[in-house]
Amino acid sequence: MIKLLKKLTQSDGVSGDEESVGNIIAGEIKKYCDEISFDAMGNLIAHKKGGKKRVMFAAHMDEIGIIVKYIDDAGFIRFGAVGGLAVKELVGRRVRFKNGTVGVIGCEEEEFSKKADIDKLYVDTGVRDINKMPVSVGDRAVFEGDYTENKTSIISKALDDRVGCYILIEALKKIKKNKNDLYFVFTVQEEVGIRGAKTSAYAIDPDYAVSIDVTDTGDTPSAPKMAVKMGGGAAIKVMDRSILCDSGVRNLMCDTAKKNNIPYQLEIMTDGGTDAGAIHLTRSGVKTGGISVPSRYIHSPSEMVSKSDVEACEELVVKLAESF
Ligand code: CO
Ligand code: ZN
Repeated sequence: MIKLLKKLTQSDGVSGDEESVGNIIAGEIKKYCDEISFDAMGNLIAHKKGGKKRVMFAAHMDEIGIIVKYIDDAGFIRFGAVGGLAVKELVGRRVRFKNGTVGVIGCEEEEFSKKADIDKLYVDTGVRDINKMPVSVGDRAVFEGDYTENKTSIISKALDDRVGCYILIEALKKIKKNKNDLYFVFTVQEEVGIRGAKTSAYAIDPDYAVSIDVTDTGDTPSAPKMAVKMGGGAAIKVMDRSILCDSGVRNLMCDTAKKNNIPYQLEIMTDGGTDAGAIHLTRSGVKTGGISVPSRYIHSPSEMVSKSDVEACEELVVKLAESF
């Protein structure tokens, strides 16, 4: 179980550059579905044929990162954000480019202490000779963040949303007979504006959809009040900034969880959206819900989830795929 999640999180797939993650997933799932394809955007779409109703499950493959904007004569790299970055937390972090080059984020100290502005930060690879610079304008990098686990929890970069990809992969392996026509979609470019979900949902034209992603928790010492806690089970989404979930889908999720003794909790996330936000607005609208893995330190190199929550989400997806 955990070996695959480690492989997924440690693979690099900054938004728009998800290919290597997609190839790992394609290799894992091809035995378990009838058709598998990549669309023009890079979304990986797995189809498991079944009855009349089309049900789409989605998890995003991309992760946040940075993009090189400008390199000065001394080799200091200025960069922009790819996805939502907490600028004041970036100093000292390591970034890794596609060719393996590692750099550290430094800052113009006095300026940065006055205002946490991304323009006051730079990436330093240690290379001062501009002719030997191993990266160029337009190159993207991810934040390094090793995978580690203990008895109850997992810590890594990119658990947002490789843990969702992992859950869909494992669910797909377990679904034996399906009365519905199932589409498991591994989407691109969620972190830059839920873009891959938009085109894939248009192509599939589903009757029902469910996105799998991470959500915040309210269980750290000074966290804003929120009913979700780590270890409390699968979070069934009621709302986030991108969607008010279909109440029929939400009730079906709760009933399915109850019937199968799957621990669950209800999620209202006031920051951030998910693929569900794009999917439910497709064509004339799609009845859409969300299942979330409670996660701390989202968008840091040390995102944290609970193993029992991952299992609960996985089981809920398996049962739900049969329930529509
Ligand atoms: Co995210
Ligand atoms: Zn996410």
